Amino acid sequence: MSKKIIIAIDGYSSCGKSTLAKQLAKDLYYIYADSGAMYRAITLYFLRNEVPHTNISQVKKALGNIHLEFVFDVDAGKSILYLNDENIELNIRDMVISEKVSEVATIKEVREFAVAEQQRMGIHKGIVMDGRDIGTTVFPHAELKIFMTADIAIRVERRFKELFAVNPAITIEEVKQNLEMRDYIDSNREISPLRKAEDAVILDNSNLTMAQQLKIALQWAKEKTDLA
Ligand code: DC
Repeated sequence: MSKKIIIAIDGYSSCGKSTLAKQLAKDLYYIYADSGAMYRAITLYFLRNEVPHTNISQVKKALGNIHLEFVFDVDAGKSILYLNDENIELNIRDMVISEKVSEVATIKEVREFAVAEQQRMGIHKGIVMDGRDIGTTVFPHAELKIFMTADIAIRVERRFKELFAVNPAITIEEVKQNLEMRDYIDSNREISPLRKAEDAVILDNSNLTMAQQLKIALQWAKEKTDLA
């Protein structure tokens, strides 16, 4: 049997990172971890408990009360994130969270907390993790690093379709502004900004189907596992 590797997928918001990561994990029998969901869960906790982002001692205290766990749901065929034993999968996709999450993800203590959890999850390899700093900070030695991009118009359309299905009041303009704002904050923050790792391969999926991008990524994974 070939050795297990770590696959790190980074890129801008709504590039289809989680779709690809989930499919790769399924095909390779690997664990899938959505690091963005962790930042979203922390944001949800901060909003619910009115934690002021600028008060570092309160931020630290709040982080001490947060327990995050991914649990595989056999019926859903995917991992669900639990925040202090509560399934918060639906709550964290809300626009209210999308509007605040990038700001929360700039806080040093929040990043240290999330990165430590993420590194723990990768100890035994055999994991696909997607996010913004996975190939650069979380797993700088990942065997396969993929940096995903897609045209902004295509990303807006994809995200709009997803959000419209649960909230018909949403507008294209709102979605576009949110993606642009998050891309800006994520790329310009001081700690672990979104960057392509030097040894990452670029996957521009603007004109690729899901099946095509999966085929490409599986081939890359095969090449790396053969070497591992
Ligand atoms: O992948 P996502 O859109 O659910 O991520 C939500 C936000 O979390 C994203 O705008 C920035 C932050 N994030 C991060 O800073 N680092 C990561 N590894 C993943 C997400």
